[in-house]
Amino acid sequence: MNQTDPFYITTPIYYVNAKPHLGHAYTTIAADVVSRFYKMLGAPTYFLTGTDEHGDKIAEAAEANACSPKEYADEISALFKNLWPKLSIANDHFIRTTDESHKKVVADILQKIYDNGDIYYSEYEGLYCVGCERFYLERELVDGKCPDHKKEPKRIKESNYFFRMSKYQQWLIDHIEANPDFIRPKQYRNEMLSFLKEPLEDLCISRPKTRLTWGITLPFDDNYVTYVWFDALLNYVSALGYPDDEKFTTFWPKVQHIVAKDILKTHGIYWPTMLKAAGIPIYNTLNVHGFWNMGDAKMSKSLGNVASPEALLDKYGVDAYRFFLMRDMSFGHDSNFSEESIVKRINYDLANDLGNLFSRVIAMSFKYFNGVVPEPDATLMEELSLAGDATTALDIFSTEMPLFAFDRALKGVWGFISRMNKYVDETAPWDLAKDEALTPRLKTVMYNLLEGLRVVAGLISPVMPGTAKIMLEHLGMAETPMVLSSFNQWGALPAGGSITKVKALFPRIDLKALEATKEKAAPVKKELSTPLKPEISFDDFQNLDLRVGTVLDAEPIAKANKLLKVTVDLGEGTPRTIVAGIAKSYTPEELKGAQVVVVANLAPASLMGVESQGMLLAATKRKNATLATFAVDGLKPGTPVK
Ligand code: ME8
Ligand code: MG
Repeated sequence: MNQTDPFYITTPIYYVNAKPHLGHAYTTIAADVVSRFYKMLGAPTYFLTGTDEHGDKIAEAAEANACSPKEYADEISALFKNLWPKLSIANDHFIRTTDESHKKVVADILQKIYDNGDIYYSEYEGLYCVGCERFYLERELVDGKCPDHKKEPKRIKESNYFFRMSKYQQWLIDHIEANPDFIRPKQYRNEMLSFLKEPLEDLCISRPKTRLTWGITLPFDDNYVTYVWFDALLNYVSALGYPDDEKFTTFWPKVQHIVAKDILKTHGIYWPTMLKAAGIPIYNTLNVHGFWNMGDAKMSKSLGNVASPEALLDKYGVDAYRFFLMRDMSFGHDSNFSEESIVKRINYDLANDLGNLFSRVIAMSFKYFNGVVPEPDATLMEELSLAGDATTALDIFSTEMPLFAFDRALKGVWGFISRMNKYVDETAPWDLAKDEALTPRLKTVMYNLLEGLRVVAGLISPVMPGTAKIMLEHLGMAETPMVLSSFNQWGALPAGGSITKVKALFPRIDLKALEATKEKAAPVKKELSTPLKPEISFDDFQNLDLRVGTVLDAEPIAKANKLLKVTVDLGEGTPRTIVAGIAKSYTPEELKGAQVVVVANLAPASLMGVESQGMLLAATKRKNATLATFAVDGLKPGTPVK
């Protein structure tokens, strides 16, 4: 790529069904970092993020929160939009799929593809995962469940519109093969190529309004709304003012998308074939990263095991947060999140390596030269210069950043920081200061260190813009243009400039104190005899079908002195048989007529030869069970309990 070629970077547009978490922060920070990097190269850049607001998932979330989809979308979209500035994210635009301009582009493109004959009407039966908003093939399921949401997809049969995706299968294979960087890192490119070895099915791109109204109406049939992915993916072009706006002609198709592997297929298969069918040039590159996991599972809104960005930001500051995310994850691979790992990064890399070096060098500049940048001695420069080490770091940085290998780029910078720390020990300025004859040497050493720190400020600036700015201010270089050419010429720091004193850039965090806060939290939980289970999402809870049941009969089970066989009316016509471990607490007589809470959609299980078709809720302590009942009598059997 030519250094001044325009550069366009996008994040996925996030669903507005729950609050942002660390995973969304990671992708958006990564996009911000590359965008800042290309700005440093002098490229015109455009950075897009936003929210995905239509579809089943949002309609369901809104219903669960008792508001309209639009109200719900407004509220959650604002949470994303307002979070980004707190993370020092400088996006150029924030798109919402409910924007009128976006809806118009979606309708125009659908019409165009329809007119070209690549959209047809047909009946379809398939397995649909609401979490993914897509149909699954049997072979894609794991134990009959969606591999992501761990739920069985619903079987749905209806007439719909289909996009002739299969028609573009060979073209797509050829395109991926001809463009090695089209999908990267390589493992994801290979994954798509191997997926494409099986025949590609056509894509269902509509939802009947009888089932879903929250979407963009199809321009050629107003009984249907557009499938949310066909709507969402088009944000990448609608945001630029497709087809005529200057932004579109400048930045498309030089786009680089960033996504995590959960949406590899939609971006690696649906999206390029959609572009092809619409006659729009194909995007440049899809950059795919792995998952942030927490406790062995993907951090996800649906699972509820998320780290909220705000809490960590308040505690550790935005630059440390950004640094941790970029440094700890190797782009393309999964990473495990823990608060300890943030604290370690802060203590070792930031407080120790960078922070200490900076404070020491500034303090010595005051001690030996009253805070004025000394003039290096030209004759000593060859022996003492750090220029070669700076060049190595600059080379690594410039090579790795365009590959989104943020961890390796930062490792290169930290290699230079370590080198400077060693240089301080080797040159021992405190010894040089004891002998006036060595002043030229001392001046040269200190100059090199100050200049090295100036280069470091430049190299960390895409990841830690705030810290870079503070460092440059202390070095008297606040006005430095943030372009690579300010940092790749050794010796640009003017001698005679003034430095200002500095407190710690990054205070050390007491790991023990972190553990102590955790300890403090524990006794609250300890009051419960059984520890609380991990938090679940509202969706998980909604999967439980709890009902009012009336006990019709109960009897002991032979050889099972803890169990009773209970017959319960759930208003279904045929009463259910439920085996309950309550024989030590209730006699069959006592139970008759009681109204209890039944878990009605529990998979049947055989207990002592009796098939149990549900479960009764009870407070249990050792062998005592107290059934959950109701404060009033006469409820209708089968009434849902929520
Ligand atoms: O998929 N680790 O939205 P979404 C890393 N609306 N990244 C994560 C993550 C994790 N644990 N969890 C989420 C959608 N992400 C669609 C996209 S685009 C046209 C439509 C990040 O809210 C990551 O970037 O489920 C992932 O791809 C994205 O959030 C999914 O966001
Ligand atoms: Mg998701």
